[in-house]
Amino acid sequence: MANMERANFGSKLGVILASAGSAVGLGNIWRFPCEVGQNGGAAFLLVYLACIVFLGVPVMVSEFLIGRHSRANTATAYSILAPHTKWSFVGLMGVVSAFLILSYYTVVAGWTLEYTVAAIGDQFTAGTDFTAFFNNFVANPWKASLYVVLFMLLTHIVIVRGVTDGIERFSKVMMPMLLFIICVLVICAFSMPGSAEGLTFLLKPDFSKITPKVVLSAMGQAFFSLSLGMGCLCTYASYFGKDTNLMKTAGSVAAIDTMVAFMAGFIIFPAVYSVPGLSPDAGPGLVFVTLPNVFNIAFQGAPVLGYVFSVMFYLLLVLAALTSTISLHEVVTAYVHERFGLSRKVGANIVTLSCMALGIVCALSFGVLKDFTLFHMTIFDLFDYVSAKFLMPLAGMLISIFTGWYLDRKLVQSEVTNEGRLRVPLFRFYIFLLKYFAPLAIGIIFVNELFK
Ligand code: PFF
Repeated sequence: MANMERANFGSKLGVILASAGSAVGLGNIWRFPCEVGQNGGAAFLLVYLACIVFLGVPVMVSEFLIGRHSRANTATAYSILAPHTKWSFVGLMGVVSAFLILSYYTVVAGWTLEYTVAAIGDQFTAGTDFTAFFNNFVANPWKASLYVVLFMLLTHIVIVRGVTDGIERFSKVMMPMLLFIICVLVICAFSMPGSAEGLTFLLKPDFSKITPKVVLSAMGQAFFSLSLGMGCLCTYASYFGKDTNLMKTAGSVAAIDTMVAFMAGFIIFPAVYSVPGLSPDAGPGLVFVTLPNVFNIAFQGAPVLGYVFSVMFYLLLVLAALTSTISLHEVVTAYVHERFGLSRKVGANIVTLSCMALGIVCALSFGVLKDFTLFHMTIFDLFDYVSAKFLMPLAGMLISIFTGWYLDRKLVQSEVTNEGRLRVPLFRFYIFLLKYFAPLAIGIIFVNELFK
């Protein structure tokens, strides 16, 4: 069905903002500062940067070229490029992982929506026990489910409008808003009393902290943050035009994604260090427990500023999460629509309803279902494990092998150079990274995660 009339992104800016929207998400603002905090600050950052450049960008270019060349959803794309082989399995794996990630990612996205509502309602008041606040919220079956449903509906509204009028148009509004909010927050955070200490933590490397565990966490984070392995960027690339420069686009997306992650660090660490006794290595609670304390205590003398800061911060998280859930939804919707010949609207309805159901089950695993475990994991943890720790690196490794070893070199070169119209001096280096470095490096993360 790949020859159905396909939509296209209408402009270069649309291409970059939609792809960057997929990459920029909770991974940048929630997970990245946790990882930095738990892996020793600046030392982690250097390794992370190397992973983005030598691993993330080459795999991203591969996803782009697979998508654009085949102009099909990610599962069909592999069957077009490698007919009658088992490679189509890689694309299908992407669809399954995107579906699973969407289900549990929406749970955390729902928390950000709840926190935005709480921030607007000025609920982060002095004396609140934020650990209890968070625990009570996630364990409340009605509230947690309600926010999953609401977030999925927001995603649905964009998806049913289609590629140009939905994804592209909304990305063009939401991404500039996100970038504006993050700049304002960085300026605010720099003027806080703990900013010097926070910046030192973030920027002064202590090389003795670089252990194998830090390297592996940095690779995993780079991968998650750039949305690789799930078919998101492959699906988006199927809507790119013939003149899109794949290398440049991958470079821009990686640069925006990294800049936002660093800026999130520039907001969170100065803020955390402004309140004595708070720790930067609070893990997942950093954003949902530690920060409300900061809003409360650090802004005691200027409550209005604290109010504005907290509303803007959680709104930022909602926007970031939404542009990512849209891309995950699109992977599955494009597949259902093209593979089964259903209308896009019916496909989107099916995906939304089934992800809502699974999302609610994931949300309940913090409350009524918390004792229901499979392989010693709650459903939420199991989904996270299977998709982000297992399927994602496996897909990444296979994508680099597919492009580096299986695909005809002429086809790869023709896609990357837009049929010879672009000069790409780094082409041979790109092929080297794909053939040797990426499969090996990702293989190591994968084995490490499996046998941890
Ligand atoms: N890159 C997103 C983030 O950093 O939050 C998460 C994500 C989106 C991962 C889409 C994978 C994906 F396919």
